[in-house]
Amino acid sequence: AGTGKFFVGGNWKCNGTKDSIKQLVSDLNSATLEADVDVVVGPPFVYIDQVKGSLTDRIEIAAQNSWIGKGGAFTGEISAEQLKDIGCKWVILGHSERRHVIGEDDQFIGKKAAYALGQNLGVIACIGELLEEREAGKTFEVCFKQLKAYADAVSSWDNIVIAYEPVWAIGTGKVASPEQAQEVHVAVRDWLAKNVSAEVASKTRIIYGGSVNAGNSAELAKKEDIDGFLVGGASLKGADFATIINSVT
Ligand code: G3P
Repeated sequence: AGTGKFFVGGNWKCNGTKDSIKQLVSDLNSATLEADVDVVVGPPFVYIDQVKGSLTDRIEIAAQNSWIGKGGAFTGEISAEQLKDIGCKWVILGHSERRHVIGEDDQFIGKKAAYALGQNLGVIACIGELLEEREAGKTFEVCFKQLKAYADAVSSWDNIVIAYEPVWAIGTGKVASPEQAQEVHVAVRDWLAKNVSAEVASKTRIIYGGSVNAGNSAELAKKEDIDGFLVGGASLKGADFATIINSVT
C-alpha cells in the first residue's frame, strides 16, 4: 500500500439470492471496518436495489458491467445512467470473465469506460494476463495493450482504479505472490508515467485481484504498489471480507 486511500472491492459476480444477500449485508453492517479504506461491493444487477436499501452508507456500490452508451433499444443491457439513478457509484469493467467468457475486446471495454466516466461513475478498470501469456513471457505486453485501450478512450484518470487480476489466479486458489503482483503493479505505474503522465502514475490506485483471502491479504497489502484488492469468492463471506479490508497496514 502506498498510493492514495486503500481500496477494497468485493465482486460478488453471479452469486447470491435475496436471502443470502440479506445475511451478507447484515454481516457487513455489523463488521468493524478500518476508517481509512474505501470499500465497495458489486452485487448482481438484480440485487443492487436491495443492497442499496439495506447496506450501511459506509460501503459504496458498484455494478459489474454497464452499456457502452446511452440506453434505448439494447435488450438485456443496463446503462450507466440507470446505474447512477439506482445509487451506484462505481462500475467494474474489463473483467477477465467478460473478456474471455463473453468475448469483450479492448476497444469495446475502453468505450464503456469512457461512457461510464462521462456519467460520473468511478471505473474499476480490470486488466490481466492468461496463464499461457505469462508462460510465454507476455505478461507486460498484454497488460500494457489493455491499459492502452483505456488510455486511448478516456480523457481523465481521476475516477479510475486499475485492478490487476492475473487470470490464472482468479477463482483458482493460486494467488500471485506479493512479489509477482508488485512486479506488475510497478510496471503498470511506469507505463502510466510514460504514456499518460507522472501525476496520473503517482495518484492512480492499482489494486490486486485473484484468490485474495483473509489469510493472504496482509502480506500482499505490505507491498508498496498494491493499493487495495478486488475480491471475488472471499467477499461473499462478511467476516473474511472485513479481515481483508482491515489488512491495510
Ligand atoms: O474480480 C475479482 C475476482 O476476479 C477474483 O476472484 O474469487 O479469485 O477472489 P477470486
